[in-house]
Amino acid sequence: MSKQFAVIGHPIEQSRSPELHHAFAQKTGIDLHYSKRLAPLDGFEANIKAFFAQGGSGMNVTVPFKEQAFAQCHVLTERAKIAKAVNTLWMQDGKLHGDNTDGQGLVDAIQALNWNLDNTAILIIGAGGATRGVVYPLVQAGVKNIVIANRTLARAEQLVADLKDAVPQATLAAVSLEHLSGEFDLVINATSASLSGDALVLPETLQFKYAYEMAYGKPSSFLDQAKARGIPTSEGYGMLVGQAIESFSIWNGIKPSLKDFL
Ligand code: ATR
Repeated sequence: MSKQFAVIGHPIEQSRSPELHHAFAQKTGIDLHYSKRLAPLDGFEANIKAFFAQGGSGMNVTVPFKEQAFAQCHVLTERAKIAKAVNTLWMQDGKLHGDNTDGQGLVDAIQALNWNLDNTAILIIGAGGATRGVVYPLVQAGVKNIVIANRTLARAEQLVADLKDAVPQATLAAVSLEHLSGEFDLVINATSASLSGDALVLPETLQFKYAYEMAYGKPSSFLDQAKARGIPTSEGYGMLVGQAIESFSIWNGIKPSLKDFL
């Protein structure tokens, strides 16, 4: 029988994970089946238990269950501990293992664009779970300076305080969105503004060379402003494929090339 995988979320219909994992499987010659599982909001734990009890090999976890998945795991990778969220689950020696591949997915997507990360200064807009998950992998990839800007300054300050010790080789700072200025190699929009159709206005004094929008397939005023300045841009499809490839490689021991699936 083929190995069984699934993505669990609520809602789940929109998930692109099954098509991605089936494409990776075809490319690498691995026999697997990957399905979508809709769990009720209070039914996450029961659902994953049933999946692994039936011999499932691995699960991806999406909104709104990543923090619950983190809390359920017996064994966590370093980056999952720092993210306080898990998007990749598997069973080993009877223990539930959890990892978070979102940040490495972003790093791989940026590197596939040939945008340099080594020794760079980056501005991340937003201070929610999306930002928490990417800071450590970005620093591991060589980023030296990260400013986190948020509408609610206290949330950015809290995140910086939480993450500081995990990335001693980089400097982290918090600013409020309205006091945004300075010069950066790359700006990443990690807010949910584009997802909810809100505008994000960047000050003219803010300078940057590249712009990455974590959302994808939505109008983005952030990307519009970067494009109007003639700056290279990209949106979150590459990150989505990148995190899927990283999960695939954890489960199957083989890492397909991101560039083959963009
Ligand atoms: P996620 O887990 O996707 O990061 P989240 O934890 O809800 O989601 O965080 C959403 C982020 O988008 C927050 O940083 C939020 O700013 P606040 O902390 O001030 O709420 C930011 N955000 C959402 N809508 C925004 C908007 N219209 N303008 C600016 N920031 C916005």
